[in-house]
Amino acid sequence: MVTTATVTSGIDVLTDDVDIPGLGHLPINAYVLHGDAPVLVDTGSIAQAAAFDAALRSVVDVADLRWIWLTHTDFDHIGLLHRLLAENPELRVITTFFGVGIMGLFDPLPMDRVNFVNPGETITLADRTLTAVRPPSFDNPITVGFHDDRTNALFSADCFGALLPDGLVDRADDLSDAALRLGQVTWGTIDSSWMHKADPAVIAADLDRTRAIAPSYVLSAHLAPAPGSMLDRMCDAIGAVPSAEPFAAPDQAALDGMLAAMAG
Ligand SMILES: [Fe+2]
Ligand SMILES: [Fe+2]
Repeated sequence: MVTTATVTSGIDVLTDDVDIPGLGHLPINAYVLHGDAPVLVDTGSIAQAAAFDAALRSVVDVADLRWIWLTHTDFDHIGLLHRLLAENPELRVITTFFGVGIMGLFDPLPMDRVNFVNPGETITLADRTLTAVRPPSFDNPITVGFHDDRTNALFSADCFGALLPDGLVDRADDLSDAALRLGQVTWGTIDSSWMHKADPAVIAADLDRTRAIAPSYVLSAHLAPAPGSMLDRMCDAIGAVPSAEPFAAPDQAALDGMLAAMAG
C-alpha cells in the first residue's frame, strides 16, 4: 500500500512501507512538487508500481506533470518511470549521464526527453530553481539530490534514511532522538557501507556544507519528512557511520531460520 500526505504547502509525499525481515520498517518515499511545472521526485518501487500509480493520481493529474527528478536508478526509485513517460509526452527526466547509461541496460530512456544536471548545477523549471547536490551518503554513484528555492526544501535521496524496528512514523520528529539516530546509523552502515573506508575529515566537511544549506525541510527517500531544525542531529548521525559497527548481513543459517518460520 502506498499512502500520501502533505509535507507543506506545495509538496506531497507518497510512502510505501517496506517491512525488512529482522531489521524493521523502511519507507520508500517519492514527492510531488506542485507549481507551474509540477515535478515528481522519483517514481516508487517496481514491486509497488500499481499502488504507487493509484496514490500518485490522488495527489496530481499525471497529465500536468512536466518533470521527473530521478535521484538515482535503484529499483525503489524507478517503478513508474517508463509508464509515466509513455502516458505523458510533455514529461522530461532530470538525471545524469550515467543515469541514462545504466537505464540503457534495462529499458532505455528517450534521449531527447532527458536533462543532465550534475551536482552544483542548477535548472530553472518555470517558477522554481533547483540546485543539484550530492548528498553526504548514497548507495549509487548516479545519486543527485537537490535544493528547491521555492520551498527551501532539501531532497536528499537515500541519505538520512532510517530503519525503524517499531514501524513508520508520519513525521521524523515523532521519533525519539535515540530511535532516529540508531535507525539512521544502521541504515548508513547498510546503504553506504563505503563510509567505513572514507576519511572522516572529508565526511565532516561534506556534512558542514549540508548543514549550511539550512533547509526548511529535509526530504529523504527513506525517512518521514523532517523539519530543517533536525538537520544538525541528522548530520551528526551520518558522521557516526564511518566508525560504527559494520553491518553483518544475515547468513545462510539465518535464511534457513526464516524459511522454517515461514513454513511454520
Ligand atoms: Fe538507493
Ligand atoms: Fe533508495
